[in-house]
Amino acid sequence: MKGVVLAGGLGSRLYPLTKITNKHLLPVYNEPMVYFPIRTLVEAGIRDILLVTGGQNAGDFLRLLGNGEAFGLRQLNYAYQVGEGGIAEALRLAEPFADGEPICVILGDNIMENSINPIVEKFRIRPEGAHIVLKEVPDPNRFGVPVFDDGRVIRIEEKPKRPASQYAVIGIYFYDSTVFRRIANLVPSARGELEITDLNNSYLAEGKLSHSILDGWWTDAGTFESLRLATNLIAETMHQKETEDPWQESSAVALKP
Ligand code: G1P
Repeated sequence: MKGVVLAGGLGSRLYPLTKITNKHLLPVYNEPMVYFPIRTLVEAGIRDILLVTGGQNAGDFLRLLGNGEAFGLRQLNYAYQVGEGGIAEALRLAEPFADGEPICVILGDNIMENSINPIVEKFRIRPEGAHIVLKEVPDPNRFGVPVFDDGRVIRIEEKPKRPASQYAVIGIYFYDSTVFRRIANLVPSARGELEITDLNNSYLAEGKLSHSILDGWWTDAGTFESLRLATNLIAETMHQKETEDPWQESSAVALKP
């Protein structure tokens, strides 16, 4: 499976932090934001990765990430998005890279605690249709929100004023090779963008969308509050690791009969 990191956009909700740089280059505690989604893919065994970005600061990604050495990669692929046509439009640029293989797409401002390896493995075995990942959140109106009927997702609504559930569709998506044909059939939303939610709904309409629920914490980092939350969560996780007793695991093993 190949991986696609979407790191374009104007980052207008973080203005003026994004006046002279791309949102995904901003710091989240001790690393640039884009490090986290790349690491999520690499740690799940996805090593063939395309980064899609655009705008004035596209060159800074090359200077920062190079060939992906910081993640143990030998090569990193790049695509340039002209203009701001939305997430699904950015994804369209991944068609030659995907070359008919299934893909795992991650939004460049999505940061999570745990590995997505179990989900990747499941989709690797049966790469059919699409798979989305859900997380219960206090503010679903900020996200794509699944509408449930009898435990099944029947529709996804993008940033609904009155959310039908407490879940967010997080920014990790798995797609089979029909994804690019579907993007070509999308029409721009009221805000003039090709929406990832419409893409997911196209799979849903054919009964080809499965979902799972994410364990551990997750956040986006595209607003002041969520960027602060992401920074705090990373800082806390790092400090927890530092203070963990290094002997705990080995002594537990040693004590086993
Ligand atoms: C995007 C998607 C939304 C999804 C969210 C996850 O929203 O449109 O469906 O829930 O990412 O981070 P954005 O943050 O670009 O407004």
